Amino acid sequence: MELFKVYPLADLRIAKANGSYLWDEDGIQYLDMYGGHAVISIGHTHPHYVKRIQDQLGQIGFWSNSVHIPIQDELARKLGTVSAKEQYQLFLVNSGAEANENALKLASFHTGRKRIVAFNHAFHGRTSLAVATTDNPKIVAPVNETDEVTFLPFNDEKALEKYFEKQGKETAAVILEAIQGVGGIRVANVSFMKKIRSLCDQYGALYIADEVQCGYGRSGHFYATDYAGVHADIYSMAKGMGNGFPIGAIAIAPYIKPALESLGTTFGGNPLACAAALAVLEVIEEEGLIEKAKSRGTYLMNRLKSIPEIENVRGLGLMIGFDVPEKLKTFAHICCVNILFSQVPQNLMWSGFCLH
Ligand SMILES: Cc1ncc(COP(=O)(O)O)c(C=O)c1O
Repeated sequence: MELFKVYPLADLRIAKANGSYLWDEDGIQYLDMYGGHAVISIGHTHPHYVKRIQDQLGQIGFWSNSVHIPIQDELARKLGTVSAKEQYQLFLVNSGAEANENALKLASFHTGRKRIVAFNHAFHGRTSLAVATTDNPKIVAPVNETDEVTFLPFNDEKALEKYFEKQGKETAAVILEAIQGVGGIRVANVSFMKKIRSLCDQYGALYIADEVQCGYGRSGHFYATDYAGVHADIYSMAKGMGNGFPIGAIAIAPYIKPALESLGTTFGGNPLACAAALAVLEVIEEEGLIEKAKSRGTYLMNRLKSIPEIENVRGLGLMIGFDVPEKLKTFAHICCVNILFSQVPQNLMWSGFCLH
């Protein structure tokens, strides 16, 4: 049997990893400034993370959500504290798309409405509803097409107001990445996020913050939405949550009440995944990684801004993007090999470049 070839592959065979470094099969060392697309949040093979998972595996790896799983409660408490959202409720899943799928579904259950607002260049995943809110026709299969989603220009408050005047009362949710990742590291304006919050309040729609890529401390805030000083009704997360162990979740505001059996999953919240997610939060707290993302991000951003050849350096914390002018087109390619996987030894954890 062969692999189904859907990924364009870089010619690199990674054999092992430690902290910020990777080694290929020939023993060549690389600085990992990519983190497997924003997944590695605490560094590779962190000893606390490895031990937590090993210990859990020796106890129990899986049992179903039809019984109490105490480590899920432990994770909910820890996430509530680290994210400063103690009153929120946690629903555990396995990936970012699944998190958004459930967030959108829950918004529809809660409001009894169907319409969704998403934004140009957004990426929310590849499952049915998640892909319907993703602005890339190439990955939307005919069966995923729907008229219920309206795409609006990013950071355009006037367009948002106009939409809500017309269709606000039919709208279940607005879904926004506070920093668009796949869309090219585009930061939402504070006033735009405040406008989403106030229009959602006015019309009874829910604000879904897709924090799958920009969340989990990468921006120098636990949720990137926090930098605007607004709260979302539902936060979706995945990538950095398990540092590579598959886990995702939605954090749900206390006024959204659960209906029995309305959401569910077999693997979501299994003890092994919870142990991985707990280890990540413990390391984030213990090692002050959110503060480090902020200070190192500022350092990196200033250094990048001092390079005259690159333009439009942007982002927050260690989620950084920049543009490369046409005359340096091959530079972008070289960066993909030599910066994202840099052979220059430095010690910069938590880098999240996205080159466009
Ligand atoms: C913002 C955002 N949301 C959702 C997803 C989907 O996550 P997953 O690939 O875990 O399904 C991604 C993946 O890149 C993402 O960047």
